[in-house]
Amino acid sequence: MAAIGATAHFDYRLARYDVQCSQAHVMMLLKQQIIEDADAQRLMEGLEALREKIEDEAFHVNAEDVHTALEQQLEELVGPVAGNIGMARARNDLAVTSLKLWLRESIDSLIEQLASVLNAFCEQARSHAATVMPGFSHLQAGQPITFGHLCLAYGETLFRDVERLHSARAALRECPLGSGAIAGTAFPIDRDYSAQLLGFDRPSANSVDSVGERSFALDFLAASASLALSLSRFAAEIVFWSSQPVGFIHLPDVLVTGSAAMPHKRNPDAAELVRAKCGRVLGNQQQLQTVVKGLPLSYFRDLQEDKEALFDTADSLHLMLDATLSIVTLMEPQIDTMARAASVDFLTSSDLADWLTQTHQIPFREAHGVVVRLVKAAEQEGRSLSDLSPQTRAAIDARIATGDWPSIDAEDSVRSRTSFGGTAPAQVARAADRFASRLAALRRLSKRIANNQICISAL
Ligand code: ARG
Repeated sequence: MAAIGATAHFDYRLARYDVQCSQAHVMMLLKQQIIEDADAQRLMEGLEALREKIEDEAFHVNAEDVHTALEQQLEELVGPVAGNIGMARARNDLAVTSLKLWLRESIDSLIEQLASVLNAFCEQARSHAATVMPGFSHLQAGQPITFGHLCLAYGETLFRDVERLHSARAALRECPLGSGAIAGTAFPIDRDYSAQLLGFDRPSANSVDSVGERSFALDFLAASASLALSLSRFAAEIVFWSSQPVGFIHLPDVLVTGSAAMPHKRNPDAAELVRAKCGRVLGNQQQLQTVVKGLPLSYFRDLQEDKEALFDTADSLHLMLDATLSIVTLMEPQIDTMARAASVDFLTSSDLADWLTQTHQIPFREAHGVVVRLVKAAEQEGRSLSDLSPQTRAAIDARIATGDWPSIDAEDSVRSRTSFGGTAPAQVARAADRFASRLAALRRLSKRIANNQICISAL
């Protein structure tokens, strides 16, 4: 039992939050005159001593779990009066409340890190609003886009992940403390007061639900899975871009490793590891889903298996975000290589189809068919589309035998795509401005939420 039951080797991280819960609990007990002033005073002194010990990293969990260890050590400090800390609460409500407090801070620091990554993408987008590169679908060069436009694409992706983290944080607004083991308590407690002291919006509504539910943890793991997926996709892009045949991005020495066998190599290991750590984050989500599946209410010992998934996910995301911030900030787009790759034959073939529709009034589907044949002919003749002879054009479609014939290069192409959300450099510059102000608003909101200045509950 001791071997399988112990959580001390990982739940020591909750020590600080457990002490916060106990401080709030004692203040509430005192306000409600459930304990004597002198006892409350002793308990608060003991808790303060424990808080300092934890801060000095001198606290060690010498029991099955952190909650038991703190109670024992409190007793060593203040004597039998420590037993009163267990009044009107149980480990079931204490453990889940401490975990929620830990998670709240973790989400806030992840959001802060993520905001820095968004800012870095925005800066790259501003610098490269007009840097032309091929846009890919199916990993086939499709149409020219700008590098700035692609940076803002990842910005949008990650912006949605911040919103997911915000809603995972909103799922932490209820305080379970005071739910006791299952059924509440007979002591005349004031749960609103302890909830308020701990920065929650309100006490949880049902004691059975409170000690048995872990949906807040699953919400965080789901938001984290989405974020990890987004980061892994960008990381894969970096691995591709920095490969030698592509060469769109140069990574500085601090973000690559050499090879023992091949001296010339610059392996993008940081990006590869961002991509790979996504596996742990997805696995953690599945782990806790599986633990909770089929579990009746309320508390089961199964539920102590909630913590490592959360800790590992937060740790992994911190590392992934840290590496991603360095990559986005330090990556050097190779402008000439990108431009060359965007000026290969036929990348502007869809622009030619648009031109045929606009200038010759050929319905777009037909124009597309004409261009397919023009591309085939150009390939056979070893020419570009702009160099096709009037004879070749006439053989394909009589309507294009005479008159102007455009030469559309990659820059013309991107410049023409001025639709809202399109890749025209002027649009990208405006999009970067809008993104920057949304980011500023997001940062203000996150700060207010972190300081508990607003109540985010809708109900
Ligand atoms: N370490 C346990 C957990 O995290 C504390 C709760 C134990 N409660 C119990 N009834 N055994 O879930």
